[in-house]
Amino acid sequence: MSRLERIVKSERLKGKRIIITGCGYKPLKHIFYDITTGEPSHDSIEVEGQEMKLNIGSAVAGVLALNSATVHMVSRSEGKLKNIKKCLAEFVDDHLIEYSALDLLDEDQVKRFVEHLPRDKPIYWVQSVGLGAGSYKLKDDNPYLPIEKIPLELIEKESQIVLRATHLMMQELLPTFREQDETRIALITSMSAIRGYSYGATHCAAKGAIDRYANACMLGLYKENIFVTTIRPGGVDTGMYDNPVVQEAVKDAADEYQCDWRNKGIRLAPPTAVGEAINYVFTTPAHIPSLNLVAKGQFPNEGS
Ligand SMILES: NC(=O)c1ccc[n+]([C@@H]2O[C@H](COP(=O)([O-])OP(=O)(O)OC[C@H]3O[C@@H](n4cnc5c(N)ncnc54)[C@H](OP(=O)(O)O)[C@@H]3O)[C@@H](O)[C@H]2O)c1
Repeated sequence: MSRLERIVKSERLKGKRIIITGCGYKPLKHIFYDITTGEPSHDSIEVEGQEMKLNIGSAVAGVLALNSATVHMVSRSEGKLKNIKKCLAEFVDDHLIEYSALDLLDEDQVKRFVEHLPRDKPIYWVQSVGLGAGSYKLKDDNPYLPIEKIPLELIEKESQIVLRATHLMMQELLPTFREQDETRIALITSMSAIRGYSYGATHCAAKGAIDRYANACMLGLYKENIFVTTIRPGGVDTGMYDNPVVQEAVKDAADEYQCDWRNKGIRLAPPTAVGEAINYVFTTPAHIPSLNLVAKGQFPNEGS
């Protein structure tokens, strides 16, 4: 039974429309395991007979829809969004799952998307856009590089893409958020914003930038009942670590924290765990400014 099937349904987010930017999946190429239960740490869907790893956005969509939110998934790949909807509809009401295919870096497309959003329910937002699905082709899918191997282009792309996409959408949605009694926003940054390692000159720098952006939004908007939460996941099992080159790189990072992944194995959190965290953040009466989460067995160092 998949982890999504085991999540207890609730009505806690009924009547909310939650935009989730950055929904997709990748073909399963490697299996990682939970350190205590021994079960695989990815969440999967089957597409044309092939097992796919859900990314963070798609898993969050599944969890929030199980809590009765209307989820509106966004990425550039209409085919993928259609497949995710079809698979999620096995667990939740089909009418709770909406999607739009657009390029979040394109100003006109973002404006049009926001203009046409139905306004029958309060709108919340989860931002989970990333480089991984082809915005920029990383060699070996590996953003963890020693300084001398970091291409200039990677410095530019990693720091700009997510920040630009987040800011564009934030500016377009703000007038709507300002009209609502209450708005919740979860901006997914990364533990790499606050947990350094020597291969992090681009990745930690880029995550640090979006993390500070989220913090500024939080401080700037809470007086208008727009409650922003920075979500900082550590390594999550979305396919990003399936390449052996990436695995070697993160073992080196773990070594720097005396975390023995070399002998004990790499430990990654399931993306549905990020969904459960966001469900809590969106439904608790408190405003949670930020939330850090790592897999059991993953170096849990904060501010280091
Ligand atoms: N996985 C981890 O271990 C981890 C840990 C901490 C933080 N994070 C961060 O969390 C976010 C999501 O991670 P993930 O592993 O789920 O990443 P992912 O699989 O690479 O997902 C990124 C999503 O963004 C979409 N996207 C990229 N460029 C876009 C554009 N211009 N317009 C619209 N959609 C676009 C991609 O879909 P299309 O290409 O189909 O458009 C894809 O669905 C990333 O920012 C990542 O850095 C990930």
